[in-house]
Amino acid sequence: MKNNLFLDAAFSRPTERPPVWMMRQAGRFMPQYWEIKNKYSFLEMCKTPEIAADVTMLPVDLLGIDAAILFSDILVTGEAMGGELSFTQGVGPKFANPVRNAQDIDRLETEVTDRLQYVADAIKVIQQRLDGSIPLIGFAGAPFTVMSYLVEGGSSKDFKLTKLLIHNHPELAHRLLAKIAKVTTDYLNLQIAAGVNALQLFDSWALALSWNDYQEFSHRYNQDIISGLNRRNIPVISFCKGSSVFAPIMAEARPDVVSIDWNADLLNIKKALPADIAVQGNLDPHILYADQPVIKKQILRLFERMRGEQGFIFNLGHGIMPDIPFDNVKYAIEVVKEFKY
Ligand code: CP3
Repeated sequence: MKNNLFLDAAFSRPTERPPVWMMRQAGRFMPQYWEIKNKYSFLEMCKTPEIAADVTMLPVDLLGIDAAILFSDILVTGEAMGGELSFTQGVGPKFANPVRNAQDIDRLETEVTDRLQYVADAIKVIQQRLDGSIPLIGFAGAPFTVMSYLVEGGSSKDFKLTKLLIHNHPELAHRLLAKIAKVTTDYLNLQIAAGVNALQLFDSWALALSWNDYQEFSHRYNQDIISGLNRRNIPVISFCKGSSVFAPIMAEARPDVVSIDWNADLLNIKKALPADIAVQGNLDPHILYADQPVIKKQILRLFERMRGEQGFIFNLGHGIMPDIPFDNVKYAIEVVKEFKY
């Protein structure tokens, strides 16, 4: 790898500056994304390897980040299991056949890696394009978060149906989570076999759970997935919103990196974790709406706080919003790249 900063930091080795990439770095805040999006549906983009590669490469070419992330979505596992998935502008993801009872759960399939072959094909095209310049991060949704979309039938504010399922019918919830976890393990191993250099598990909505429910309905399955990966030299990043609270539990699943939302002081979190676990984060993405001197000040404040620490990857606490000014994202990355420990 010509640029090893990301992998060095992920394995808690020293780096001359923090590496940088951003969640949702290939997306709607980029005018160039819209040029492609106006011609194809989102799922067509994900399922056509050349297009998925084009979109993956946008932030590599236009922003100069230290790691690329596969262009896809966390819900493709739910689709492969039998969910009728669509994405509509302004509405977001929808499953037309939500999973609500034992029959629905039993109908979901678990031998589905063939249906996800397009992702492996995209990874191969992307690696040819990257040509050893920077690492490629693959990813999947964590079972709890994917379950919430399958059960609710789309995005949700309060996860009411998902919580009713786990509280009234925990045995059904466990059956569903175990099925998703099996598919997710196979899917991430498929991505490793296709050539990704790192993996991130996205459990975006874990913050909806209590401490006990997080352990029972999320962490257990994330742990099963992480321990089932063929992860030789492939760092694994565990992300959730709620990580400010759940980080010590997340660390028990032995990822290489825990990705932290913006609520916590990153150094305090790092010090409470085992020394060989790196942290990723944790700028509030809303800072990228602010004036550029504010952006610079906030990034440098984080870096001063983390000075002297090994195992720190700069990122946002969650993804870039679609209406964040492109120039501010570009500026933030320049600020990171000028910094020296
Ligand atoms: O980070 C990247 O740039 C890589 C690609 C990526 C996408 N989604 C592309 C995408 C990744 C890693 C994801 C993960 C994802 N998808 C998560 C976890 C991360 C997070 O943000 O919490 C979740 C919860 C989803 C489910 C999902 N997919 C939602 C809620 C939406 C947005 C709905 C909306 O319209 O706001 C999507 C669609 C999606 N995924 C888009 C992109 C670029 C937008 C699609 C479009 O262009 O219409």
